[in-house]
Amino acid sequence: MYSEIKEVIVTEVGTRDGFQSEKQIINTKDKISLINDLINTGFKRIEYSSFVSPKAIPQLADASEVIKGINRNKDITLTALVPNLRGAIRAVEANIDEIVVFLSASESHNNKNLNRSIKDSLISFEEVVKLSNDANIPVHGDISTAFGCPFEGNISSKKIVEISKEYQNLGFKGVTLGDTTGMATPHVVRNVIRDIKDNIPNFEITLHFHNTRGIGLANVLVGLQEGINHYESCIGGIGGCPFAPDATGNICSEDLIYLLEEMGIKTGIDL
Ligand code: COA
Ligand code: ZN
Repeated sequence: MYSEIKEVIVTEVGTRDGFQSEKQIINTKDKISLINDLINTGFKRIEYSSFVSPKAIPQLADASEVIKGINRNKDITLTALVPNLRGAIRAVEANIDEIVVFLSASESHNNKNLNRSIKDSLISFEEVVKLSNDANIPVHGDISTAFGCPFEGNISSKKIVEISKEYQNLGFKGVTLGDTTGMATPHVVRNVIRDIKDNIPNFEITLHFHNTRGIGLANVLVGLQEGINHYESCIGGIGGCPFAPDATGNICSEDLIYLLEEMGIKTGIDL
């Protein structure tokens, strides 16, 4: 049933999604040491921080400092979230490997999280892409609240396809679907994946689940059945968006890696 997938990419997002919601500020040295340990254990893609407003997320204000201490090599891709041109300028200056822009599928969450409409977010991404192209840094797009919004409830898969098409027009190779508050269920996940595949063939899909209701890994199984080979997770199952009520931890990297490896699917990560 899952046999077609032999290998999966696991992007570790603990020092971004995880740390953004920690109350106590974690010092830069400890972040660097953890990220280097993650690299040593085999993670090839790490969303290590965000270039967002330090007023919005004080915990990640040190993104430019953290990267200086990371033992980088050509096999490791360090990504970070960028909401606007100001963030892109900082990310380019820090010489990150990939910029990840993000918006929400719902207007309400986009407003709470980014203080603007979805349309205005997309307009600002054009500036981000222009700058990144000049700097030769690839850009990827995330959609938050892709499987449900804490303010608006259900999100139609049409909306996800619509934003994905905008992302494709911006030149992105794929999209990450974020289940910001853990509302996704297997049949919704299946529908959204199929809708994207039907409408935008060959557009790469990455899945980012939170485990609020204990369904995170069940959703991963559906992703695997649908041929998705890229997942995001957090060490220790930490994580959550400070601008979404009741957001709890991401799926736990250790659990995800255990599941995949026990299914004979390689992750390249030493559990
Ligand atoms: N990096 C650093 N500073 C930034 C910034 C960035 N990317 N973007 C804006 N700022 C600063 C501005 O310079 C300005 O500073 P000042 O008050 O000292 O002049 C201030 O932040 C306000 O800028 P403005 O453009 O008016 O932004 P805003 O207040 O409308 O906030 C965002 C918009 C997008 C910057 C902010 O909502 C944000 O960073 N959100 C991120 C949310 C997030 O990461 N959520 C979790 C992930 S899902
Ligand atoms: Zn998340």
